[in-house]
Amino acid sequence: MSQENTNPRHVAIILDGNGRWAKKRGLSRSEGHRAGGEALDRLLDDALEIGIPFISLYAFSTENWKRPRAEIQAIWKLMREFFTDRLQRCIEKGIRVHASGDLSRLPAANRKLILHVIEKTAKNKALTANFCVNYGSMDEISHAATEIVRERLSLAKKGKKADAAVSAKEIEKHLYTHPIPPVDLLVRPGGESRLSNFLLWQCAYAELYFTDVLWPDFGRRDLQAALKWFRSRPRKFGGLLAKED
Ligand code: FPP
Repeated sequence: MSQENTNPRHVAIILDGNGRWAKKRGLSRSEGHRAGGEALDRLLDDALEIGIPFISLYAFSTENWKRPRAEIQAIWKLMREFFTDRLQRCIEKGIRVHASGDLSRLPAANRKLILHVIEKTAKNKALTANFCVNYGSMDEISHAATEIVRERLSLAKKGKKADAAVSAKEIEKHLYTHPIPPVDLLVRPGGESRLSNFLLWQCAYAELYFTDVLWPDFGRRDLQAALKWFRSRPRKFGGLLAKED
């Protein structure tokens, strides 16, 4: 079935290019991340105005722990400031915050704050902003598999029969992103053309849009350009378009 000429329901964005943006200006990498946080504010406003119901943001990957300690600390501090400052605004604007990733490894203050924001925004309906923090697709899928095995073992212990086959639907239920729908459009600013362990399962049929614009410079016009390109894509999901029948 074709979805030509409609906007995506779920847009996922890899927030890449903060470091290079800062370097070009003689600023520290942390200042680049701060500018990235400001670009995030603008994006959420634009998504609300355009009417995109789900946005996923790659804020910290399972591989980002390889960065210098000072940079990691700066990102956690920035996230605390971000969620503290924006909570009221999220509530007023109808933004529901969801988090994907293994939050157990985060500094306790960050984990507590994110859980607080999730709880306070749980009833919001206009836009779900899915913050992927300490997130990696390979970790997510192995976590889902572990949970499923655990459930099977618990059933077996109670003497109940458990199916040996695991369906895609069952795996989806255990992904960190559940119940957010699959990604329609993945946007990667920053000039690289790879997925970097981001939402690999959820992007099975996503359209992939790469741009050289660095994330802190990414604005409404860039989002509009990505959406325009998306609307021009014939989406077949492995089938045929009606006119090809
Ligand atoms: C990648 O750019 C960016 C990150 C690893 C961190 C992204 C964090 C933010 C945008 C701000 C904090 C998050 C929130 C939720 C407020 P890079 O450093 O790899 O850039 P480079 O490739 O130019 O070096």
